[in-house]
Amino acid sequence: MHSLDAFAAQKLATLDAANLRRRLIPSARTSAAHIQRGDRTFVSFSCNDYLGLAQDPRVKAAAIEAIQRYGAGAGASRLVTGDHPLLGRLEARLAAFKGADAALVFGSGYLANIGVIPALVGVGDLVLLDELSHACMVSGARLSGARILTFSHNDMDQLAALLAAERGRSARALVLTERVFSMDGDRAPVPDLLSLAEAHDAWTLVDDAHGLGVVTPDAQAPLELGTLSKALGGMGGYLCASAPVIELLKSRARSFVYATGLPPASAAAALAALDILEAEPERSRRPLALARRFTAALGLPPAMSAIVPVQVGDATRALALSAALADRGLLVVAIRPPTVPAGTARLRVAFSAAHDEADVDALAQAMRHVGAVGAPQLEVAR
Ligand SMILES: Cc1ncc(COP(=O)(O)O)c(C=O)c1O
Repeated sequence: MHSLDAFAAQKLATLDAANLRRRLIPSARTSAAHIQRGDRTFVSFSCNDYLGLAQDPRVKAAAIEAIQRYGAGAGASRLVTGDHPLLGRLEARLAAFKGADAALVFGSGYLANIGVIPALVGVGDLVLLDELSHACMVSGARLSGARILTFSHNDMDQLAALLAAERGRSARALVLTERVFSMDGDRAPVPDLLSLAEAHDAWTLVDDAHGLGVVTPDAQAPLELGTLSKALGGMGGYLCASAPVIELLKSRARSFVYATGLPPASAAAALAALDILEAEPERSRRPLALARRFTAALGLPPAMSAIVPVQVGDATRALALSAALADRGLLVVAIRPPTVPAGTARLRVAFSAAHDEADVDALAQAMRHVGAVGAPQLEVAR
């Protein structure tokens, strides 16, 4: 066997032994709440389309019209010929929506993080990162070459101690966190974090990927980053910040400078989604209300966002429970290490405005039945 293939086969065997190999399962979303896999249709609790806008006829029509008029792709980096006017319109709209001076749109939220962070800090600087921050924030921090220190999840005392001890040794410091944590559904204490950071002349980036359109922000960070791919239902990422920061990133964020611009259709879809979000505030209240209905039904701590984690221990058990729910027509994908820390494999339940109350009640009942909460039942052992 070629050494390259031998390397891959050995790595795959290690993943298989730990039940950690990832597999693609073709999945077609047939409505905002339903997904088809093979010949089966499931109610999905594993999409981040929190407002059901990916399937909204107005969002789809806006994207289709933009494709008909402007084509399927941007054709080049935005700094070459890919800067379609819809992107500028979207940036103005995002900035106004978030109450910022300016915005910059990227190809995805991942690209935004790995572009923004290294453009602002580098060797000789300090990044302070909540330990549960998303992988793309970790990647951005590593790419920057700055010294990285993690603080325990939402632990403001530890952050204060780290800033007091370490800030003086670095030219610049950047604190990274998420407004709503992607795998835990809880929220960062952003106002406290901002005061701490400001007291030590550290900058703060809050990733609002899972907050936008679902939770009301309690404070505004100087760097508000997010995605167009979750509550807005489409594709793309953004940063909202002051005008000089946004201007600098146009020249220095490598994932912006050296990547093809977002297709005009994605900008059109996001603009249509923002229209709906502003016109229909009750839609934004629904995912959290449904999540709270679910946590109340199961006696779990009240949900703080559209995301409710049900921790079940190891990866094998998480997979078995997910399969048992699938047998009942409910799709709740098992989340395993390294996405979450070892021993905390979970069923991550994501609620959408597109679910109805009966869907939520059916899931709560099934969760009990299969033993994901409460006393385990026989079928988990299969
Ligand atoms: C917190 C957070 N930031 C960024 C991203 C990446 O966003 P995108 O999917 O637009 O690349 C995700 C995606 O899951 C996320 O959870």
